Amino acid sequence: MMKEEWVRATVRDIPLYYNPKIKAVRMDTSTNVLGPNPAVRNVLNECAGMDLNQYPKPYSDDLREALAQAYGLKADNFVVGNGSDEVLDIIFKTFMEAGETVVAPYPSYSLHGFFVKINGGRFVTVDLSDGFQLDPDALLKAKGKIIILCTPNNPTANTFDMRAVERVIREHDGPVIVDEAYGEFADRSFIPLVDDYENLIVTRTFSKAYGMAGMRVGYMASNLTMAEQLQKIKIPYSLNRVSERAAIAALQERDYVDRTVELVRREREKLSHELDALGLRPYPSQSNFVLFRCPVPSSEVVSRLAAKGVLIRDFGRQRLLEDCARTTVGTEELNTMLLSKLKEVMEEW
Ligand SMILES: Cc1ncc(COP(=O)(O)O)c(C=O)c1O
Repeated sequence: MMKEEWVRATVRDIPLYYNPKIKAVRMDTSTNVLGPNPAVRNVLNECAGMDLNQYPKPYSDDLREALAQAYGLKADNFVVGNGSDEVLDIIFKTFMEAGETVVAPYPSYSLHGFFVKINGGRFVTVDLSDGFQLDPDALLKAKGKIIILCTPNNPTANTFDMRAVERVIREHDGPVIVDEAYGEFADRSFIPLVDDYENLIVTRTFSKAYGMAGMRVGYMASNLTMAEQLQKIKIPYSLNRVSERAAIAALQERDYVDRTVELVRREREKLSHELDALGLRPYPSQSNFVLFRCPVPSSEVVSRLAAKGVLIRDFGRQRLLEDCARTTVGTEELNTMLLSKLKEVMEEW
């Protein structure tokens, strides 16, 4: 039998990640509701004849070149990986010694703490203030080696005040990670600023607005000196050739992303309004999901809704998110279905 002490002490208590087993319409993962990106379908057809007995380029140079063109930066400003989860992991592997502290706002993306812990770090959180806004003083005072924050923030869906984030970047003597997984849905990005700061790393993903969660592609941008260090730590070849080709095609064909952003901006207002009419209090969103507070236990709302075939995500057991649940912003049809089932749940209650 395996003895518990064989497992590294710092990771013994880590639970398995969220992995629901039920069959339902998935509105719990904030992925793209327009279906797969058409650019990917074309690439998959072309890839049938690809010489997949060969490795990809170790650092996905072609995708980094395409990103450089898209952002007006250099290819060497970018490091790409197997989802933005991989690039987050690379950052801690590169900059954090075992036992060092990483500071993050709370509540935010749960895997930030996971990546810190699996790399032997200490994860310290600072509560968001009213309206789920950033408290720059508290973040800076916590004296971590690295600060990580996510804007728009998951699961609260709001963006942080840009000046507050800039102050954290300016005043923190260490790397600051800005996770922009939902950046396409908001008005502003920190990527154009990466060359202006010695300590800024911005992460992004093809999983959300680009509709490619199943392909697992993410990237980060930073100044050239930081990016060079980060690149050395990435597992060579971690991004497969098919996903790389698909991401390049998706970057070049903007129509699907533009339609996605337009749909989300239109539908999230209507959805929020209708949730409110059901007594489910939505928070402002600049993402492709909405967080709302239920007047009854959110775990019950989520499980009763799941029994009717629609899965949203419950956050109700977390401090500051008591009785809150999060739903992806759907198409008009999806939202209508979600709302009618939520209405039934609330009436049955
Ligand atoms: C804030 C945030 N960062 C990163 C990720 C990871 O995305 P990826 O699919 O690129 O690994 C997610 C996924 O939900 C997220 O919500």
